[in-house]
This record gives sequence, C-alpha cells and structure tokens, in this order.
Amino acid sequence: RSKIPQVGKVLTRWSGQILETMDGLALIGADQPSNGKVYLISGDSGMGLTHGTLGGLLIADLLSQTPNPWAKLYDPHRFRWRAFLPYLRENLNTLWQYRNWFKTEESAMHRLQQGDGVIVQEGLHKVAQVRDENGEEQKLCAVCPHLGGLVQWNQGEKTWDCQCHGSRFSEKGEVINGPAREPLKAMV
Ligand code: FES
Repeated sequence: RSKIPQVGKVLTRWSGQILETMDGLALIGADQPSNGKVYLISGDSGMGLTHGTLGGLLIADLLSQTPNPWAKLYDPHRFRWRAFLPYLRENLNTLWQYRNWFKTEESAMHRLQQGDGVIVQEGLHKVAQVRDENGEEQKLCAVCPHLGGLVQWNQGEKTWDCQCHGSRFSEKGEVINGPAREPLKAMV
C-alpha cells in the first residue's frame, strides 16, 4: 500500500484450501465410472483457472463419448505406483493427528481472551471452548463428526479445524468445509 496508494481499503478477506493430489495431477473425470452421472474437477493445486479450461474440454468429450488423449492421465480413479509413498505418508500423518486425544488441559475459560479458543478435558469429554469477539463463551464437543479426530482452534481464521482430513467448523460449530457433514455438537 505504501508503494501503490490508490489500492484503497481492505473490504473483505477470505481463505481457502489448496487441494494437492498424491501424484501432482488434477482429478478430472467421472466420479463413479460405472454410473457416469457425476463428473468432477478437483485437486487443482492452485491451478484452478487452467483446470477449469482443461476440465471443461475434457468433460465435454467424456459426456459426448469422444476419445480424448488426456482422459486416462486425469482419471480420478487412476493408480500410480509413484503416488504410493506420499499416500502412505499422508495416512500415517492422519493417524498421528489422533494423538491429540491423549493431551489434557484443565478448563481455561477464565484465561481466554476474546477471539481465543482451546480444547480442554471436562470429565470424560473433550470440549472446544471459545470466547467470541463479543466476549460470549461457547462450549462445543471437540470430537469431529467425520471420523472422531479432535478439532484444534485456528487463531488466524477463528475456526475449529480437524487435521485428520481437513474438516473445518465455524466458532459456533457449523460446517464450513467437509468431509464432515454434521456440525460440532453444543455442550451444556
Ligand atoms: Fe475430522 Fe476426518 S476425522 S475430518
């Protein structure tokens, strides 16, 4: 802004996730080869504009059953041996995230600043505690409804994030990003 003063005020901010595939190529094609009703373009690795164009051409060919030399390359169901080690590493990392179940912290509501969140142990329960920007306290079940990982407070985004498979929830527990489909449960 010091270099380009005419850029004006910041009006809004957002964030997103970059989806990386195991072999570095996007996933473009039929989601379920057998039924052919759903087609996807994903795993863009930050190249959404390129894949939007490429995927539009490729999927148009797939729908009209026109042979396309890229079809196998981008097939979402492809298997590549060179992707096996990254796949294994990612899955070990997912398992590693479950270690958070063994961390304990006593109730911290008294020392939470506005906009802070923390996971604490309350009896047998893991509880996601947050003090929102208005100073109000929220208590949610910290267990991710997808596959039981524990969410963590993301101070930058003010969200509850699950590091197992990337689900993200608002500070009130609503789903922002799957694979979880259910919100975090409220605790009383
Ligand atoms: Fe949370 Fe899978 S367990 S996203």
